[in-house]
Amino acid sequence: MAIWKKFHKDGTPEYLARNYWWAYVWPFGIWFWDHEPLVNMILFGNYKKLVKKTLERFKRIMPKKTLQITAVYGSITPDLAKQLKQDNADSEYHLIDITQGQLDSAARKLRAQPETAEQANNLIRMNAENLSFEDNSFDASLIFFLLHELPPESRKNVLAEAVRVTEPGGHLIITEYGERTKTHFFHTFWPSRKILGFFEPYVPGFIEENLDSVLEECAERSGKKIVNTHKELVFKGFYRNYEYRVENR
Ligand SMILES: C[S@@+](CC[C@H](N)C(=O)[O-])C[C@H]1O[C@@H](n2cnc3c(N)ncnc32)[C@H](O)[C@@H]1O
Repeated sequence: MAIWKKFHKDGTPEYLARNYWWAYVWPFGIWFWDHEPLVNMILFGNYKKLVKKTLERFKRIMPKKTLQITAVYGSITPDLAKQLKQDNADSEYHLIDITQGQLDSAARKLRAQPETAEQANNLIRMNAENLSFEDNSFDASLIFFLLHELPPESRKNVLAEAVRVTEPGGHLIITEYGERTKTHFFHTFWPSRKILGFFEPYVPGFIEENLDSVLEECAERSGKKIVNTHKELVFKGFYRNYEYRVENR
C-alpha cells in the first residue's frame, strides 16, 4: 500500500494525504517543518515579509472576530492572535484546520504567550470546504498559502465558504503565490517551474487563474460580491498579499 493511503482517513482530504502527508499530516513532519528557518527557506527568504504584510492588513481593519482558515507553520498564528488582542481586547480569534496535529501545534504556540492562551480554546477541527459556521459569522478571514495546495474545485469551495462566513463590510485577506508573470525568473526558467510543479502539483494551475474572477464567481454562491481593496506584490510578484471587502450583491 502506498504510504499516503495510511494518512487518508478521519476526514483528511485525498489531495492532502496524497501530496502533503509528509508535510502536514505525519506527526514527525509537523514537528520537522514547523521551524521558521525551514518555512522561510521554502519561501525563498520571504516568510517574515509575507507575515508582516498580512499583519499590516489586520492592523488597518482591526476586526472584532477573525477566522484563520487553516494552520500555518512559523509564528504567524501567535503573532496575529496577539496583535488582534492588543488592538482590541474584546476581539476574537478562531482557527480551523482538518489536521488535529496542526491544531495541537497551534494551540501550544498560543498557550505559550499569556495574551493569547485563551484563544487556544477557539481552534476547531473542520474542513475548509464545508465550514460549520453560520453565514456572516466573522468580520475578517485569512487564507495564508492554502489555495495553491488545493485542486481547482476544492479551491473554489474554500473561497466560497470564506466569503459566506465573512459578513458584508468584512474583509478577506489572501497571501499566496502571485499570478504567473512573463518576467519573473522562477516563471520563465523551465527547470524551476518543473521543480515547483513537482513538489506543489496545483501551483501551475493556480498561478494561471485570475483570483479576482474566481473569487467573484465563488461569492455569488452566497449572494455576495467582493471588492478588491488592496493588492501588493512581494519578491517581484512571485508572491502576493491581497485584501477584499465582502458586500451583499
Ligand atoms: C495553510 S496550508 C500551508 C501553509 C504554509 N505552506 C505553511 O507554511 O504552513 C497547510 C494547512 O492546511 C490544512 N488543510 C489543507 N486542506 C484543508 C481543508 N480542506 N480543510 C482544512 N484544513 C486543510 C492542512 O492540514 C495544513 O495544516
